[in-house]
Amino acid sequence: MKILFIGGTGNISTYCVEQAVNDGHQVYVVNRGKRNTTLPPEVTTLTCDIRNEQEAAAILDGIYFDVVADFVAFVREHIEVDLRLFSGKCGQFIFISTATVYNKPPTTFPVTESTPLKNPYWKYSRDKIVCEELLMNAYREQGFPVTIVRPSHTYGKTMIPGIFGHGDFTEIARIKAGKKVIVQGDGQTLWTLTHASDFAKGFAGLCDNFASIGESFHITSDEHLTWDRIMQIKAQTVGCSADIIHIPSDFIHAIDNDTGAGLLGDKQYNAIFDNSKLKKFVPGFQATISFSKGLQDCIDYFTQDPSRCRENEDISGLIDRIIAAYLGSVK
Ligand SMILES: NC(=O)c1ccc[n+]([C@@H]2O[C@H](COP(=O)([O-])OP(=O)(O)OC[C@H]3O[C@@H](n4cnc5c(N)ncnc54)[C@H](OP(=O)(O)O)[C@@H]3O)[C@@H](O)[C@H]2O)c1
Repeated sequence: MKILFIGGTGNISTYCVEQAVNDGHQVYVVNRGKRNTTLPPEVTTLTCDIRNEQEAAAILDGIYFDVVADFVAFVREHIEVDLRLFSGKCGQFIFISTATVYNKPPTTFPVTESTPLKNPYWKYSRDKIVCEELLMNAYREQGFPVTIVRPSHTYGKTMIPGIFGHGDFTEIARIKAGKKVIVQGDGQTLWTLTHASDFAKGFAGLCDNFASIGESFHITSDEHLTWDRIMQIKAQTVGCSADIIHIPSDFIHAIDNDTGAGLLGDKQYNAIFDNSKLKKFVPGFQATISFSKGLQDCIDYFTQDPSRCRENEDISGLIDRIIAAYLGSVK
């Protein structure tokens, strides 16, 4: 099978590329070449900014892919480009959406693929819903062969999952230094963290899977942890205990809109997913990596290079500001 990843060197897509190579497929990636991720030597890299449609059309000219997977489409215009680039030129187009598209606040558990799509709190999610709708219309009206895949909170070794920033070492550095760390709400909501190598196994099963065309799927772990437990695992992994301060999500949002949108539109709620649809389409799929195990891989990766183990001053400063404001307000 010939498969193209738009992205391919990212937090999730790197693992999907490795899985596809291991499965014996002919793998291409399109990206701008800005990351120092090492991909398997079998991968063909096409260096290109996908936002430059002319350049992308030229570089992809004459190649038919069995599967194209776009990991970097976020808004309507990105999908419009994809439809022009890949109509009639692929057997299946996989759009990487997000599980944050599901109804917020959630009304039923567990979340299934039939859960209504509505997120008034987060523009990122509303834009992804627009992308999904555009693609499903193209499927219904022109037979565009789309499969929608919705990751929930998914991490690989280069990303330590949390609520601040993009998964760097800051929170762990704070724990090691005995500084307070923030957990939103009362820390008791249940959350699902999925390791990207587990995601990649589900993703691989959907590739070139004719029955999955016109369908949508989330791919998640079945492990559910409270946010307090997640923070405790982080601390235990580096041999410390965490000095947790609980702060309401809307208080955090009032101080930092970016972090707050991800809380109000996602991480302040329980997140429990029913993966039975995926398991029906991909027999044998089972996520196997616990957060304790996955996080240990992250810590091993970060600690291999001391330059990765720094506290980011901007993020840590933001955490300090939120804590100071909160403690000031509750005195
Ligand atoms: N991680 C999560 O928890 C989560 C949850 C839900 C949904 N998602 C979805 O997962 C996707 C992100 O996947 P990921 O984590 O693998 O990606 P990522 O870590 O954000 O990496 C982005 C990839 O795309 C490439 N890229 C970025 N801009 C590009 C451009 N203009 N032209 C060509 N290539 C470009 C990057 O390489 P260069 O920089 O070198 O171009 C890199 O390979 C997003 O669609 C996101 O909405 C993630």
